[in-house]
Amino acid sequence: MVMNLDPQITPQQTIIRIPGLKQPLTILQITDCHLTECDEREEIDIRTEAVKRTSVFASQLAGGPSTADLFDRLLRTSNDLQVDFTVFTGDIIDFPSQANIEHLQRQFDLLRSSYLYTVGNHDWYFSGSFTDEVRAAAYPKFREWISETPGCEIRTVGGVKLIALDNSNYQVTNDQFAAIKQAAATGEPYLLFMHIPIYLSSLQQDVVDKWGAPIMMGASNWNAASREAWQVRTTDPSTSRFCRFLASEESGNIRGIFCGHVHFNHIDAFRAGRYQYVTAPGFTSQCRLIKLIAE
Ligand SMILES: [Fe+2]
Repeated sequence: MVMNLDPQITPQQTIIRIPGLKQPLTILQITDCHLTECDEREEIDIRTEAVKRTSVFASQLAGGPSTADLFDRLLRTSNDLQVDFTVFTGDIIDFPSQANIEHLQRQFDLLRSSYLYTVGNHDWYFSGSFTDEVRAAAYPKFREWISETPGCEIRTVGGVKLIALDNSNYQVTNDQFAAIKQAAATGEPYLLFMHIPIYLSSLQQDVVDKWGAPIMMGASNWNAASREAWQVRTTDPSTSRFCRFLASEESGNIRGIFCGHVHFNHIDAFRAGRYQYVTAPGFTSQCRLIKLIAE
């Protein structure tokens, strides 16, 4: 079958071989689209900020399509590719305006595959404070797509568990960790989708060059000033335990970690033979097509 794919959308292809997989599966990962839709229903300071943020992305898009237009085209690409599943790994919207949320609702109605949505720090943040209270207050806006705390959604597709974890505050709670350990204990292969990558030494330099701070989960090499500027607290004990779990054999049949947040592509092992795939942002027309095949 010949498909007419959008020529501007450029998926990275990732092939993962899984022993005993019953059937091939294709999953499209979409991340960091940063929609900036906003209208008069928001307060003036939010509208002003939205105009600024729109121009930030417009400058990177060189006067091309809006971030919302690219998001729509990424969803159409998911439909055109007829993938088995689509996963959204955070910062799909740049702030939780009513216009942004309604845009998501309209587009998700057109998406043919099942999907998982996990939030990034921008999904729930207007400006000001990146606190757990601000996140908790915004969560009901996403209720249609994410069920409830502890922010760990699990779907099983063709014998593979897809886990969408909310680590958008750079932390993982004991409840989230327990849910993942329980899924891992089944021995079934699983993929982990989350917004913020785990710290890897090979990722460090590129992240700091781009952002001026080690904005990764479990990074310990922050200085006090950048921690304060980014409003990232020191790593919780539960988060440290989770990072050690991922890096060890304890994480069992995990077959990949997929994230975004830092806005570039990067692949490296977090454990012998198991890779973290950082995916470039949707607002640059990129996404990741994951093909699972039997080994
Ligand atoms: Fe982002």
